Amino acid sequence: MSAVPGIAPLREFVGAFGRLLDGGPDEPRILSEGGAFLRTLVARDDWLPDAYAQPDPTRYQQFLLHADSTERFSVVSFVWGPGQATPVHDHTVWGLIGMLRGAEYSQGYALGPDGRARPQGAAVRLDAGDVEAVSPTLGDLHRVHNAHADRVSISIHVYGANIGAVRRHTYPAEGGRKPFVSGYSNTLLPNLWDRSAELRSTTSA
Ligand SMILES: [Fe+2]
Repeated sequence: MSAVPGIAPLREFVGAFGRLLDGGPDEPRILSEGGAFLRTLVARDDWLPDAYAQPDPTRYQQFLLHADSTERFSVVSFVWGPGQATPVHDHTVWGLIGMLRGAEYSQGYALGPDGRARPQGAAVRLDAGDVEAVSPTLGDLHRVHNAHADRVSISIHVYGANIGAVRRHTYPAEGGRKPFVSGYSNTLLPNLWDRSAELRSTTSA
């Protein structure tokens, strides 16, 4: 088959992920097999459309790339401007993080008896091609920041829900937690489904 440029790797990824979830796997299997799919996706950096790779000077961007039709999972590109960081936050569902471009640090946190989130363990550095998991069973609180102070980094995230519409929390330094719903930075989605070039390349007429 001839090479089909563009977004085909993402289409193949969401198809494979949907088929994985069709079998009703438990979370460890989702994270291991889905993590392998994500590792394949971020092993190449030639498929993310530029519109979903644009940083914003004021804050990190979260571009929805795909939401499953029954919201079993969603795929998001996180675009980190130089030095940008999240607050300490939770997810409430499983998540997979694959580094596409650049690098980031993820520092895990745990709640202390006084209700304050404290760093737990060493920060994990993700370089291009690396994949990490989060979930309420593995450790759900972290703070993420761009490892680079002078360039954009991009990670591809997969979550076990329509993550932009999940009620979550941030954990301020003074203790307690604040509700938040992340939403998305984009209103339009990439077109995964125009397979005409692929069909035309294999049609002799
Ligand atoms: Fe996160």
